[in-house]
Amino acid sequence: MRDRLLALAEAARRDITVASEPSAVEALRVRFLGKKGELSGVLGGMGKLPPEERRALGEVANQVKAEIEKLLVEAIQRAEEAALEAELRGPKLDVTLPGRAVTPGSRHPVSRTMEDIVRTFQRLGFEVAHGPEIELDYFNFEALNLPKDHPARDMQDTFYMDEASLGHAKKADSPVLLRTHTSPVQVRYMLEHKPPFRAVMPGRVYRRDSDLTHTPMFHQVEGLLVGKDVSFAELKGTLDAFVKAFFGSDTRTRFRPSFFPFTEPSAEVDISCASCGGKGCRVCKMTGWLEVLGSGMVHPNVFKASGYDPNEVTGYAFGMGVERIAMRRYRIDDLRMLFENDSRFLEQF
Ligand code: DAH
Repeated sequence: MRDRLLALAEAARRDITVASEPSAVEALRVRFLGKKGELSGVLGGMGKLPPEERRALGEVANQVKAEIEKLLVEAIQRAEEAALEAELRGPKLDVTLPGRAVTPGSRHPVSRTMEDIVRTFQRLGFEVAHGPEIELDYFNFEALNLPKDHPARDMQDTFYMDEASLGHAKKADSPVLLRTHTSPVQVRYMLEHKPPFRAVMPGRVYRRDSDLTHTPMFHQVEGLLVGKDVSFAELKGTLDAFVKAFFGSDTRTRFRPSFFPFTEPSAEVDISCASCGGKGCRVCKMTGWLEVLGSGMVHPNVFKASGYDPNEVTGYAFGMGVERIAMRRYRIDDLRMLFENDSRFLEQF
């Protein structure tokens, strides 16, 4: 048996030292040391030997096993080095090639614009608040002083939710819709806070509109300030400061009388056209001005719906479309660019 062990070691030395591939080394490991391998084969009969002989033979067997293990480790190292060298020499791996560039992601211009609008108002002391995109007709229209027959409530403009699909989720008896503006967050905020406060409310809004200049989903930032004796002059001052901080200190503002059901008086705010400096061009349709937001003094009925006494508090509100402002800011002339997600366009920001 001892001779067979020594012969085994001899065979291992001969075969393992010439193995040149990892798979071949593995096959040799199985052949010599595996459960049904040659070493086990030789040692199988050891149980029948007298203890004295068994001990002596065990020692030899251990030495042989250790030697084979060492040979295998060396062979594996040799085979791996050879494989790497072959790769370096061959066509597969050229370490002199420049690395493959990883294209970093970039913020979408609409996200950037929305964040910058919010940050600008935060610097003016405004909090940030959010409301649901799936909204009750009550908050989206009713509480904002939009009477039942107001044209804005038309099915033409509003996505109403199919009542049946709402199932248990439908608790209130007000119809459910996708909010058409961020103004309902004003009422939700007022119901949960005590004046004085000021807050901006960014988010997605939805309208049944889809053409060159309208998308069914777009973004708005709403603003609300409520306190005692808040004046229209403060509204003008705040929005003028926002416009100058956002579009540049040489940008001028113009307040144009307008109408919104939830504000009285109401005004639309235009900024001087950056493309022509106010002289008139294609971008501003020769007017020298670009409309950027709606605003006004909070209507007494909106305060009432929010549980406030309109004789006690006053406030102003405003709302702006983020896509429109992003287009003004980055001089993008086609709204669709903001929604196509063409990476050649997006990576410019
Ligand atoms: N909600 C209006 C819209 O979607 C924008 C707006 C106008 C909001 C005047 C206001 C406001 O808070 O005072 O067109």
